[in-house]
Amino acid sequence: MECAADDAELFELEVGAIAGGGGCAARAPDGRVTFVRHSLPGELVVARVTSTTTSFIRADAVTILRPSPARVAPPCPHAGPGRCGGCDYQHVSLDTQRLLKASRVAEQLQRVAGIQRDVEVEPVAGDVAGLGWRTRVRLGVGPSGSVGFRRHRSHELEYVESCPIACPAIEGTGALGARWPGVEELEVIVAPDSGESLVSVEMGRRAPKDRTPKGRKNPDLPEVAARVVVDGRALQRSGAVYTKVAGVPFRVSAGVFWQVHVGAVDALARAVRAALAAAPGDCVVDLYAGAGLFSVLVAGDVGPHGSVLAVERERRACADAEHNGRACPQLTVKRASVTPNLIERGIGAPDLVVLDPAREGAGRGVMAALNGHSATVRRLVYVSCDPSSFSRDIRVLLAADWRLTSLRAFDIFPMTEHVELVGTLEPGPRQFPR
Ligand SMILES: C[S@@+](CC[C@H](N)C(=O)[O-])C[C@H]1O[C@@H](n2cnc3c(N)ncnc32)[C@H](O)[C@@H]1O
Repeated sequence: MECAADDAELFELEVGAIAGGGGCAARAPDGRVTFVRHSLPGELVVARVTSTTTSFIRADAVTILRPSPARVAPPCPHAGPGRCGGCDYQHVSLDTQRLLKASRVAEQLQRVAGIQRDVEVEPVAGDVAGLGWRTRVRLGVGPSGSVGFRRHRSHELEYVESCPIACPAIEGTGALGARWPGVEELEVIVAPDSGESLVSVEMGRRAPKDRTPKGRKNPDLPEVAARVVVDGRALQRSGAVYTKVAGVPFRVSAGVFWQVHVGAVDALARAVRAALAAAPGDCVVDLYAGAGLFSVLVAGDVGPHGSVLAVERERRACADAEHNGRACPQLTVKRASVTPNLIERGIGAPDLVVLDPAREGAGRGVMAALNGHSATVRRLVYVSCDPSSFSRDIRVLLAADWRLTSLRAFDIFPMTEHVELVGTLEPGPRQFPR
């Protein structure tokens, strides 16, 4: 069991390699592994314990006795021990952030998937020195109606009126400086290319009790320069933003997944299409399809004689994917959970597969079921925001003689420990009928 540290024990530690959770690994005086946030490999720090278990300790570096040359002054005034939990690497130069992410991906690939690979983390267009890139921010609301981000591993809020990693258009809505009394959480969403913006408000347990004839009452909300959606219900004309990718228009409704970095959709869509290399007439399955970003673009690549099956479990995401693919009769959207049974019996015999699961990955069962299609599948492209679950999942295919034929890593989450992977896997020769 993990216990919060009440008495803020302090250690002097020499910090080692980067570890998961945004910190570096070190050894506490009693020999326990210690994960030290706000530190860098090679630094000598005074670390304050934040929580403990019998096997490891979490700590924050509160004084830097011997700084790394890669250390910089955090551009955000809310970064630092005990403060905003949104960023992990505000104290790290951008080049070093990418090297740290690359070494973590390489370490996971080797330790979990058993493959040795040099990894390069590529920047994407749209941020300015790692800042100004988020097109979506989710905020908590305090009792007075002020908004804030959660502190690291805490429900407490760090109150903010601006966020340097957010696109300027997010601040342009005025939502961060406004007061939202009675609201539990809100998400501010912008589409800089179309100039659209939306604030999606969740009343949660604080929903007003009064009822209108329609069964709900609009809460008193501040005036902002954005359309407002309350608990999924648009107060104005539309509860979605519209944006274009590769010249194709997409609708993304409040609450539906969309990549956060302003340059991510273009970079990932290009990488996925290049990796899949779909030809006219191909049959493609897009698992965890969201609003249909990959499905719709790949439907264009396979043409009218091909087919794309998009599988997604969220109702609103499926509605967006259907809307976004309405000009593509070769695209079918199936509302379903991706399970081993669905992969075994419900996706036909695809030539190509793309999967883009949530952080926890697809899981061994789904990967084993995908291996069952190795007689027909030419290539599988796995998009992942988590090197650990990615490595665990691809190990299932590698053990069945598939090969990781390419791997790209994108820095679509600057200032955080996160990184996006696009891996291409091909079945080995033994998988095909002789
Ligand atoms: C990381 S998003 C990817 C969406 C899309 N590929 C994109 O780039 O916009 C993952 C999506 O998988 C959906 N999802 C999560 N678990 C699922 C499951 N077990 N079955 C089907 N869809 C799932 C989520 O609703 C979400 O839309």
